[in-house]
Formats: sequence, structure tokens, C-alpha cells
Amino acid sequence: MAARLHIYPSREEVIDRARQLILDKAEAAIQQRGRFTLALSGGNTPKPLYEALAQESQPWERWHIFWGDERFVPADHPDSNQGMARDAWLNQIQIPAENIHPLETEAATPAAAAAANEAHLREFFAAASPQEWPRFDLMLLGMGEDGHTASLFPKTAALQVCDRWVTVGQKADQPRLTLTIPVLNQARCVLFVVAGADKNPILQEIFADSSAVAASYPAAIIQPEGELLWMLDGEAGAGLGQN
Ligand code: 6PG
Repeated sequence: MAARLHIYPSREEVIDRARQLILDKAEAAIQQRGRFTLALSGGNTPKPLYEALAQESQPWERWHIFWGDERFVPADHPDSNQGMARDAWLNQIQIPAENIHPLETEAATPAAAAAANEAHLREFFAAASPQEWPRFDLMLLGMGEDGHTASLFPKTAALQVCDRWVTVGQKADQPRLTLTIPVLNQARCVLFVVAGADKNPILQEIFADSSAVAASYPAAIIQPEGELLWMLDGEAGAGLGQN
């Protein structure tokens, strides 16, 4: 399905539009399947979105919260994506603890953690084999100024992993856990929320589409079977033109 690109004047409007889309997708998923499976992104951009969701009144017991990636740090570490979302949102709402499915980082090595998290996901999605790919209702993603998405960094081996659900990504000397491209592509809806002028140069490459370089960025090779939506602020989206 072709990507839909929305550029809004301000970061605040991007956050509000993303909040509304998530609520709309949650309502539809709960009506159709009795639950809403949402995978979160980390970093700084989504924090106000999580803070806005904390103000909502929702059937949180029907929501299941996952993460697209996690730094290989304890949950109480300042870099933890899980920790950020819990502080900004999940600790403020009545959601059953068992509905929160972080990418655990307690294993001795990142590879062992990836395997353990994959086993949990396969159990949740009742998949007998890795090839029965999970279908998240909404996959919330961001993009770093180097073009990484989740913890899939450009030109790294993690981009090529297609026989596992969870793999190890590497940012410099910091190992990370990340869902793999096939899992992202199975989502019913992929929503990129990206803001800031520092993201514009790579977005220009990705949306130029003709650039062979773009193919090395995960955002350029994420082609979900479901919807693909981009929500950008004016700085990130400068010169891209809406569609
Ligand atoms: C992470 C995120 C990552 C994030 C980008 C953008 O763990 O860092 O999941 O993929 O989306 O790094 O981060 P900012 O929103 O802080 O620019």
C-alpha cells in the first residue's frame, strides 16, 4: 500500500494527529478483534505523545503495549525506552501489568535477550514457528538523524535478518534489541512520527525514491502490507510535498 505523507506546521500538531490516529485504530481493533496491539518507539519525539495518551480515558484492559526496540539497559536506566513510556504514560493509567510487554533486557547477553523476547512474542501471538509473523495493529516508529528506525541502523546486518522476530541492533558501542523488518512489515498500520530539521536530509533521500542510497535506510525498505503513514512537522518535511 502506498505511503501517505502528512506534514503539519508544528510538532505539537503532529503529536495531536498521531494521538487521534492511535485512538481511532484502537477503537477499530477492539471492535473487530477485542484487543489493540500497539508497538511503541523510543527516543524523544514520542514522549509528548505518550503524555497526551496518559490524559485519555480508554478501555486500557483491551490495550497491549509492546516496543519496537529497546536499549540493552535495565528498565530503570535513563536510556530505557520502556522506562520513558512508563513514566510518561503507563504509570498514569489503569492498565493490567500483564498487558505491558517490554523487550526485557535481563538476559546475560543481547542475543539471549533477543531470543527470550521472541519466545514471549510467539507465545502471545500463539505462533508455532518464527515464520508465522505477528501482526501488530499499529507499529509506531521514529527515525534518527542517521536514518535508523527502531534499532535497525543503516547498512547493518540487522536490516537483513528475515528469519527472526527480534534481533540485536548496534549503535556504536551500545547493543540494542529490535523487531526485524518482516515483523514491522506485517503490521496493519505503520505510523512514522518524525520531527526536526535534522531529519530532513535523509527524508529527502528516502522520498526521492530514485536514490540507491535510500535503500540502505530501514524506512525506505519498510513496505507494510497494511497502511504506511508518515506524520512530519514542517522542519522535517521541508520540500517533501504532501500526498
Ligand atoms: C530509539 C528509538 C529510535 C528513535 C529514533 C528517533 O530507541 O532510539 O526507538 O528508533 O525513533 O532514534 O529518536 P528521536 O525521536 O529522539 O529523534
